[in-house]
Amino acid sequence: MRLARKGSPIDAQHDLIVIGGGPGGYAAALYAAGIGLDAALVEKATIGGACLHVGCIPAKELLETAHVYRTVRNAGAFGVNAGAPELAWDVTMKRKQTVIDQLVAGLGSLMKHRKVTVYNGVGSLGADRVVSVARDGETRTLRAPSVILATGSLPRTIPGFEVDGKVVMTSDELLSIESLPQSAAVIGGGAIGCEFASMMADLGVEVTVIEALDQVLTGCDSDAAKVVARSFRKRGITVHTSAPVHGHSVDPSGSHTTVSFGDGATVDVALVVVSVGRRPNAGGLGLSGTAVVVDERGFVEVDGRCRTAEPGVWAVGDLIDTPQLAHVAFAEGMLAVTDSLGEEPAPLDHHRTPWCIYCHPEVAFAGHTEQSAIEAGYEVVTSSHRFISNGRAKIVGDTDGIVKVVAERRPDGTGGQILGVHMVGPWVTEQLGQAYLAVNWEATVDDVAAFIQPHPTMSELFGESVLSLTGRSLHG
Ligand code: NAI
Repeated sequence: MRLARKGSPIDAQHDLIVIGGGPGGYAAALYAAGIGLDAALVEKATIGGACLHVGCIPAKELLETAHVYRTVRNAGAFGVNAGAPELAWDVTMKRKQTVIDQLVAGLGSLMKHRKVTVYNGVGSLGADRVVSVARDGETRTLRAPSVILATGSLPRTIPGFEVDGKVVMTSDELLSIESLPQSAAVIGGGAIGCEFASMMADLGVEVTVIEALDQVLTGCDSDAAKVVARSFRKRGITVHTSAPVHGHSVDPSGSHTTVSFGDGATVDVALVVVSVGRRPNAGGLGLSGTAVVVDERGFVEVDGRCRTAEPGVWAVGDLIDTPQLAHVAFAEGMLAVTDSLGEEPAPLDHHRTPWCIYCHPEVAFAGHTEQSAIEAGYEVVTSSHRFISNGRAKIVGDTDGIVKVVAERRPDGTGGQILGVHMVGPWVTEQLGQAYLAVNWEATVDDVAAFIQPHPTMSELFGESVLSLTGRSLHG
């Protein structure tokens, strides 16, 4: 930080100022500071953003509780008699908070270590890359040659489902719920909806998923989405697709509500979870006197290098119209910093982003679905293998799922370049790495089939699926 000259309206100068301390913002600040820039980060709450406080981390932590519960419930099958599991939700919540606190503390130490100046307050951007930081009625004024906007997103809601924190919640409230309800309707079968549905069902809640489109997890390959829907149904989750919701009416006791959806259907539940997407949070950014454009949906408009229309101003993360994923925000934060240095950053290809959804069964994918590859004009060939035939999956006792590889079809019917890989099943979020590399390296089926997969591992299924596309196969 450099203090501005006496009498200057600017309180401090930096090389780079980031507004918003979520994954996009803190990644940009840390990366810049690691390069040797004098970086500042403006955050109105605690650093970490939605990911750490009300998103990825707490959601996955609660899904892990569900996993442990499931494991104990099924322990008898391994000859381990642990009795029926009982849930101590207060302990669950404390553990979740401990994980968050540890990660926040770690992030704070990293910031200090790299000498990032953290300003606590509400940041807004004016002309000439002047950033105002308002806190407790006072305003400090900062300036830098480069400014990165990273104020993230907020849960979307739908008319007729006003969030009251009791009967109607979004992910924000659910992640701190005091006790689990007996029944819940999850509106929206996207990533958030499926993760919450899975977590609650494992912990004994009667769950109904209500999705407007014709499959859950739109964007996933339809074969993968079918496996999830089938597995959900087997575990007692009711899944309605092609069923937009119309409204709900709370009963006089205030403890239940009836949700109406589809063609006159209803369900009576103790809790409604609205998970219909997240909207960009550009509202408080100021921006007057700048050329930054916010589109009609609230996204800040950027080019392929995250540059806004205002020179020296970039925007990253959920604030822009790219996949709303923490790891995409990290990558965009680093890309914006690299671009601000006048270097040539490697472009991000969002069609090949890795996606990981942590419901049970887990979902992980990168690249084209079969459908999107066909729509893009490819002739495709696919190969799917099921975890039911995989040794490690049998050992673990978790065999629901498939690995599907989509490849360009060669004239002889074998596979050429690998266009997409779609996995559903045990630990697939930890198995996606090599598939992601194959897709992004534009590897061919022959390139990948030549590699050995360790045995017994779940990753053998990826190897088998690729091998089949060479026209020869081993086990399947
Ligand atoms: P989403 O956009 O993924 O899914 C929302 C779903 O709600 C869609 O399937 C949509 O058709 C449905 N919907 C919308 N209006 C509806 C209505 N009136 N009635 C019934 N259904 C309706 O959004 P989601 O799941 O809330 O997630 C928000 C963002 O966060 C997404 O970009 C998601 O990918 C990301 N995220 C990623 C995670 C992961 O990768 N593990 C986990 C959680 C969130």
